[in-house]
Amino acid sequence: MTYPPRAPFPATRLRRVRSHDWSRRLVRENSLSVDDLIWPLFVFNGSGSQEIPSLPGVLRWGTDEIVDVAKRAVDLGIPAIALFPATEPGLKNEEATEAFNENNLVCRVTREIKKAVGDQLGVILDVALDPYSSHGQDGLVENGVVMNDETNAVLRQQALVQARAGCDVIAPSDMMDGRIGEIRSALDDHGFANVQVMSYAAKFASAFYGPFRDAVGSAASLGAADKKTYQQSPSQSDEAIHEVALDLAEGADSVMVKPGMPYLDIVARVKQTFGVPTFAYQVSGEYAMLRGAADAGWLDGQAVMLESLLAFKRAGADGILTYFAADAAEALA
Ligand code: PBG
Repeated sequence: MTYPPRAPFPATRLRRVRSHDWSRRLVRENSLSVDDLIWPLFVFNGSGSQEIPSLPGVLRWGTDEIVDVAKRAVDLGIPAIALFPATEPGLKNEEATEAFNENNLVCRVTREIKKAVGDQLGVILDVALDPYSSHGQDGLVENGVVMNDETNAVLRQQALVQARAGCDVIAPSDMMDGRIGEIRSALDDHGFANVQVMSYAAKFASAFYGPFRDAVGSAASLGAADKKTYQQSPSQSDEAIHEVALDLAEGADSVMVKPGMPYLDIVARVKQTFGVPTFAYQVSGEYAMLRGAADAGWLDGQAVMLESLLAFKRAGADGILTYFAADAAEALA
């Protein structure tokens, strides 16, 4: 057998397609658009806004401001927001009863927002007890143990008051076993068959949630306790696939991986394995890390923001929950 003469080295020069902007655009494999963004927003019962020291540039919005912020999301073209309440300490108790009060803060605010923006913006509400419990855990606690099935019964009630308030997507972030099926059946039984369920399916017991716990005020309640008996260990990968498989079987419309950047391997595996709508949460600690370094002048804030969000797309995420959503939407406009 004869071989053709070998081309002079190097025959392949990858730099050729990189050498012009038009060519880089033509070969681009992944891109970020405003359609990929979900904006998490914190609300409190009061007026104006409050700063959150561990989340520079992110505010807690008062009930008189949040509707305007939602309208801003619409103007920016952001498809959906995720609302998180900072509950007044006096309303927290062991049983987290405020979670299923149909006039609680997130329910009131959701009604106002939906009245103002209608179908121009999706409203996503978290299901978990930590913003409402005096112990800061996501579930009911008995003798120091977070009770699974008892918690699910309460989560059903929480999901129902949120659906009645008009939220479009229920996002269970509690990591109880079987909660997606419980919530799906509760919604279906009460006329909410069209309310979506976005499961925080692969949620890890992460130290990157710190600033969020400051923002909603659960850090003080939680104290030195952790969530390792229900959130996954950072060492796990197959277990995340198992979690996603169960949540899909129980009726989840979409799944989420959380945190984001340190878990892009999980995002990629989930998307490749299941081919379902897959979201990633660039959580508070990830935002604080990038934002803090940018504020100190160590990183180019806009560049790392866009690069980090594009990395989620490359990993296979269909969308990203990010505190940078409004900044990114502006940068992309
Ligand atoms: C509540 C919840 C948490 C986050 C979203 N929903 C915190 C936690 O599980 O302790 C974290 C989001 C973030 O850090 O930005 N279950």
